Amino acid sequence: MKAQPVLLVSEEDLLNEAMECPADRPLETRPLAQERAFAFWQKDIPEEYWHLDAQQLKERITAARRALGRRCVVLGHHYQREDIIQFADVRGDSFKLAQWAAQRAEAEFIVFCGVHFMAEAADILSQPHQKVILPNMSAGCSMADMADPEDVYACWEELEEAGVGPLMPVTYMNSAASLKAFCGQRGGIVCTSSNAQKVFLWAFERADKVLFFPDQHLGRNTALKLGISLDEMAVWDYTLPYSSLGGNDVEKLRRAKVILWKGHCSVHQRFTLGQVLEARRRYPDVKVIVHPECRMEVVQAADMDGSTEFIARTIAEAPPGTKWAVGTEINLVSRLARENPDKLVFCLDPVVCPCSTMYRIHPAYLCWVLEELVEGRIVNQVKVDEETAHWARVALERMLQVA
Ligand code: 13P
Ligand code: SF4
Repeated sequence: MKAQPVLLVSEEDLLNEAMECPADRPLETRPLAQERAFAFWQKDIPEEYWHLDAQQLKERITAARRALGRRCVVLGHHYQREDIIQFADVRGDSFKLAQWAAQRAEAEFIVFCGVHFMAEAADILSQPHQKVILPNMSAGCSMADMADPEDVYACWEELEEAGVGPLMPVTYMNSAASLKAFCGQRGGIVCTSSNAQKVFLWAFERADKVLFFPDQHLGRNTALKLGISLDEMAVWDYTLPYSSLGGNDVEKLRRAKVILWKGHCSVHQRFTLGQVLEARRRYPDVKVIVHPECRMEVVQAADMDGSTEFIARTIAEAPPGTKWAVGTEINLVSRLARENPDKLVFCLDPVVCPCSTMYRIHPAYLCWVLEELVEGRIVNQVKVDEETAHWARVALERMLQVA
């Protein structure tokens, strides 16, 4: 059975949590029952885990890991909190973690500390004997949820009916497995923030136009880097009713080289041009580095942009004394500040905002799923059905070959 995340993210939820986050030290882990958004999270975790503090959880997770030994590997995305990342055998961006899952067949259990679409990709790319576990099934991605598969299929149909094409579907990794499968079946492909340009070039060798979903910003930023002008892009507003062509006229769509789904990341859309200008005013020699999910004007004003792995590597390799204003999720930014004490590293946004769904991987969930494994029980397995997995694998493997 395909596991379905329970997704209950709202802008308000994100903003509420944003107010609580210090930029200069790791986000503090409180017992699960005391964390603000717990009311929205996966609730079938036994009550004994609700009140354990960070130290108790650390001891139990360490013991469970020791008992499982090499049968279990923990993957951690860069946005995970410190109390999770300390247990990650491998940390990385979504590309690196997918690549790892495709290449390493030793571990029987892959415990994925990230969000649902990443765990799905790991399940699709790993071997049949490996089981992928997402500690908290409500750890989704609000951007991925902006591309409901039914809406994308309807969009595709409308474009075909309007004679817009030949069209290549390209989906960002941050999407449901069924959309990756949709792309695989139609000659399309997946991209991540680390390979979007190469993937777009691959697509344009095979089709005149790209339909890109769900992140309008990554799509727009990538197309601009390839010399495609804003005039040659259209935005598909999926909130409009069927047969309204996503708010475009046929001519606009026929002219467009890239059609952008109107999705966004609520974390990255918070960064503004004003923040970039303010960082430069305070530190004239600062380097601004941002994730390509930020708005076009932010990416254009930055010195560089790239995936979370690119941001981490660039700052780690920079000379001592350099200054970095970073436009990405706060767990990563504050970790980079601590790991690079010889440099000044700070977040562009003074009201810092964690990804509230990444944050749902509370150590209590990690402890629970590991202790269940020790007892021989698998909870929270992410399993994509065979038909979907087959076509999604086609699109993912195209990406792994291109990148
Ligand atoms: P990366 O692939 O750069 O890690 O990005 C994933 C993501 O969700 C960013 O918001
Ligand atoms: Fe999704 Fe944004 Fe969180 Fe990344 S940071 S997982 S795009 S909501």
